[in-house]
Formats: sequence, structure tokens, C-alpha cells
Amino acid sequence: MRYRGMWIIGDYMSNWQYSKEVIKHFQHPKNVGRIKKPDGVGRVGNVVCGDVMVIYIKVGKKNGKEYIKDIKFETMGCAAAIASSSMLTELAKGKTIEEAKKISMKDISSSLGGLPPIKLHCSNLAADGLKAAIADYEKKKKQFKPEK
Ligand code: FES
Repeated sequence: MRYRGMWIIGDYMSNWQYSKEVIKHFQHPKNVGRIKKPDGVGRVGNVVCGDVMVIYIKVGKKNGKEYIKDIKFETMGCAAAIASSSMLTELAKGKTIEEAKKISMKDISSSLGGLPPIKLHCSNLAADGLKAAIADYEKKKKQFKPEK
């Protein structure tokens, strides 16, 4: 089904017990969409369930440190994947690049009040999506570094 511009696969009506926080982030996800001219894009997917996530970041500079100025996502996947993407964006926004790299699946799942064991990989996908977006940003930065 299509919900708020995203494709939901499968499980919303299943009998897994989701926390209130998961339901809240699934029903009212934060930072959905694309960033125009992003500094980094991370595309990740899980071959087993077929879920796909794209994370967009805009990087700013504050007190000499690079930080996640803006972050958005597009997810085609399950309720837990959408809630994890939404929570990831909330956790990452405003963090320095080095802090953002350390956001783990555990940080995401515990901020969501826990996920059913079979759904833990959804939070891992979100963490990997951010790492891929940061890696893309760092690769582009190296490529366009002016010669001295
Ligand atoms: S079921 Fe695979 S990411 Fe949610």
C-alpha cells in the first residue's frame, strides 16, 4: 500500500508488537523526501526482504567542524524500516560527521523503544544508509579537493 508518499510492504497489519514510538514514527515520519543538490546520498537495500532506503545529507560547518545540517530519506519498505529511517534522521541532524558515523542499529532501535528481533535488521539498514551517505560525501569531497 502507499502511505504518505511511501510504499509500505507487508507487515503493518501483522501481529508483531511494535512500541508506541515505532507506531508514532511510522504514522508521522520525520524528514521524508529528498534534498535538492545533496552533499551525500546513501542507497542501501536488504536482498532478503527487498526493502530499500535512500538517505540524503547536507553538510554544514560549525566551529570548524563538519556536521549534518539537513537529512532526509525515502524508504520503500516495512513499518519498522520507515520508523527506523525517521528516527535515524532525528538522531543524526545536528551531529558532527564523526558523531553521526557512530550511530548504530542499537541506538536507533533503543530510541524507538525496541524492535521485534525479526525487525532489528531494519534499524541496521538505516544505520548503514547514513554511513553510505557519509562515505559518498567524503568520496566527493576528496575528488573535488583543489590541488595545492
Ligand atoms: S523487513 Fe527488511 S528492512 Fe524491514
